[in-house]
Formats: sequence, C-alpha cells, structure tokens
Amino acid sequence: MESKMEIFGGRPLKGSVEAQGAKNASLPVMAAALLLKNNTLRITRAPDLLDVNTMADLLRNLGAEVTFSNHEMEIRTPEEISWETPPDLVRKMRASSLVLGPLLARCGKAVMPLPGGCSIGSRPIDLHLKGLTKMGASIELVHGAVHASTKGLTGCRIYLDFPSVGATENLMMAAVFAKGETVLENTAREPEIYNLAEALKSMGAKIEADGMGGIRIQGVEGLNSAEARIIPDRIEACTYILAGAATNGEVTVTGVIPNHIDSLLAKLEEAGANLTVKESEVTIHPSPRLKGVSLKTLPYPGFPTDLQPQIMAALCLAQGTSLIQESVFQSRFLHVSELNKMGARIDIQNNSAVVTGVDALTGADVAATDLRAGAALVIAGLAAHDTTVIYNLEHIFRGYEKIDEKLLQLGASVRVTSNPAVAEAGDRHDARRSSSCR
Ligand code: UD1
Repeated sequence: MESKMEIFGGRPLKGSVEAQGAKNASLPVMAAALLLKNNTLRITRAPDLLDVNTMADLLRNLGAEVTFSNHEMEIRTPEEISWETPPDLVRKMRASSLVLGPLLARCGKAVMPLPGGCSIGSRPIDLHLKGLTKMGASIELVHGAVHASTKGLTGCRIYLDFPSVGATENLMMAAVFAKGETVLENTAREPEIYNLAEALKSMGAKIEADGMGGIRIQGVEGLNSAEARIIPDRIEACTYILAGAATNGEVTVTGVIPNHIDSLLAKLEEAGANLTVKESEVTIHPSPRLKGVSLKTLPYPGFPTDLQPQIMAALCLAQGTSLIQESVFQSRFLHVSELNKMGARIDIQNNSAVVTGVDALTGADVAATDLRAGAALVIAGLAAHDTTVIYNLEHIFRGYEKIDEKLLQLGASVRVTSNPAVAEAGDRHDARRSSSCR
C-alpha cells in the first residue's frame, strides 16, 4: 500500500519535543569507522532514520559489523574490508559518497558509482575528486562509477572552490593516514564538520580546526576504538519551531544547541515571532501574525538551505511579501507547486521565490519530492484548514525520526499509513562482500 500522511490541520501545536541526533553528523561519523582495523566505534545519540540505516547497510556490505538499538550504534571494522561499494545502496543516498575518502585511505582503492540522493539540482562530487587527486589518488570514471586508487596518499594544501560539506568531510577522512600534513582551506564550517573532527580525534587522528574554514591534519599510522556522541539535529529542531510558528502554537524543542540555529532564530525574530531561548531549549510562543522577511541561503553560519522549504511554508501565511533566494542548490523549489496547490502564492524567478502572504492555506493532496520539501508540506498541512494528504513519505522518514509520533505529542491530528520506516526495518539489506582489502 502506498505510504501517506493525513493531516487534519488548523490547530495550534502545543507542547515539547526533544531534538534527535543529527542525521548529517551521524552519516560521516559512521563512514569514519571504516578507517578502523579490528577496532570499534561506539556512537551515541544516533537517530533511527532511513538514511542512517542505509549507511549501516552500506558499512555491513563493506564488511563491518554494525549493531544499532536505542540510539546506540557499534561499528566493528575487521582486518579485511571490501573497497567496492554496492551500486543499489550508493544510488539510494548521496551521502554514500562519504565512504570514498575512508576507503581510499584504508584500502588504497575504492570503486563507487556516482551517488544519488534528493532531487534538488545537479550535485556533482568534483571537489571531492579534485582534492583526492591532489593528495595523490588516481581517479577514473568507468561506466558511471568512480575508480580511485593510490599507493599512499600524501598531505598537501587543498583550497576548496566552494565550502562543500561532503568534500570537507571526505578529504578530512582521507587525510587521516596521509603522509605528513594536509591543510584544507575554505572548508565548510557546519557544526557537523566539527562533530566529525571530534570523533576522528577520539579515534586518535591529529586534527586541528580553526573554526574559520582552515583544518590541519597530521597523518597517523593507525586509529583506536573510541566513542563519539552525535550533536543535536539543528534542522529537525528548527522544523518543529517553524511548525509552531506556522500554527501560532507554543512549541518547546529541548536538547538543542541554540547557537547552531542562530540564523533561523534571528530571522524569526525579524518576522515578529516571540521566542524564549535557554541553554539547551528554545520555545516559540503565540504571537501576532508573522511579517514577511527576505533571506538568502548560504553555507553555515548563513541561513541553511535545508530550512529553506520549511521557512517558506511558514512565510506563506505571513503578512506581506517575503523574498527567498536559494544560493546553495539549483532547483531546490520543487515544494513550491505543492504549496501553491494548498492556496499559497509563490512565484519563482530564477533562484528566487517571491512569497505573497495569504490569510489561510487549505488542505490538498500533495507529494514530497525530497526530504525537506516533504517537511515543508507537513508544516503547511498542520497550518491549513481541512485535510492534507502527503504522499511519498519515504523522503520524510529519511531525516525525521518518528515525526508522526512527535506531532501527536504536540497535539496535532495526523495519521500515517504504510510507514516506510517500519516497512524498511523488516526488509534490511543482506550484507554481502565482494573485493576486499586488509
Ligand atoms: C550536505 C548535507 C545536505 C545539505 C548540504 C548543504 C549531508 C549528508 N548532507 O550535503 O543536507 O543540504 O550539505 O548544506 O551532510 N558541489 C559541487 N561539487 C562538489 C560538491 C558540492 O559543485 O564536489 C555543490 C553542490 O552541487 C551544491 C553545493 O556545492 O550546489 C553544496 O553541496 P555540499 O555542501 O557538498 O552538500 P552535501 O555535502 O552534498
């Protein structure tokens, strides 16, 4: 049966939810476990998400033993692992490309089909490949797959043309065993980058990050067993705050690091929202109708592209006009036609959306086209009159653990049919190994 979420909207959310561990920190930290040999990485606060389970399957397929329950994961990487990644898993999730750096560092070889992922514009990995080449890897593209090999990576200076999150993470992991010093410049500065750096350091890597886009890595011979704790998911936390804003409710999100979400909090304050920020929680209170605001997505600490669809959903109901410029991804406006079906007034001009606030949204049948577009439709559905039915829920469950239960906890009226997270749990991939290295 097709998965769908029915939302009987129009009621203010009220209550408290706890932020999950960050999806985008968990995935690279899990990939880093491939650097171990006969050692174990224990990860705490790992969110139980489709993407996290896809990464776990990928690691199992490469030969690691992975156990995962109650948000605690253990990854034991044996002496021998495979360097050939399974195309079906890699195509399922773009973040699979994060195993490229560790495999190359650990095995001197990696074969990986070009990754898939959200349908939000062309997402090349040229910066990853350029950096690895500079460190001494030979890279060939054969029938749509990257074939990388090296007799040993060498430290060097790499300036990233754009502060790509994935390229920064891949290169950091590749550099852990490189000879000498690697200096990465113009790196991404997302909190998830520092979570990975801390995890690698606890495993014995020598990494210094200046917090301003410079990262120095001294190559080491080997790593040890370690424990890593995942930071709170700033995007998930902000999604619930925005759902509170859109429904004019009173929502507290606990377990957050408020300065990771400054850009959203500042924008909401500018729009007239009433917020209380404490050490590790944020509450949005009812307030007069939000005012339209302008924003542009940028790499961290700028406004995150991963919140652009959700804030757009909330601004659909603001007084006046908002201008939203998307500068990180091309074509990340697939949610717009769905929001317009619900009575929103949004016009796209190139990479900008002009949102003219309306007095009310109305329920409609809509489809999630990617993870955050799906989250935007949930917010709109919660605020809309009547019933909204959202299809293609597998996108939403890639990044939101138990979203239906959390919304029920906040007093929403939602019903999920054929939950893809539940279906996936019963249908885990069989781990099979192919080409391997010691
Ligand atoms: C990560 C996040 C994703 C978020 C994005 C930007 C994870 C698992 N995913 O994705 O949720 O939306 O950061 O904050 O952490 N680019 C290139 N060449 C490259 C690499 C990137 O042109 O080699 C471009 C991309 O096409 C895109 C932009 O750079 O336009 C940002 O991409 P990047 O920062 O690499 O995002 P991801 O790591 O894929």
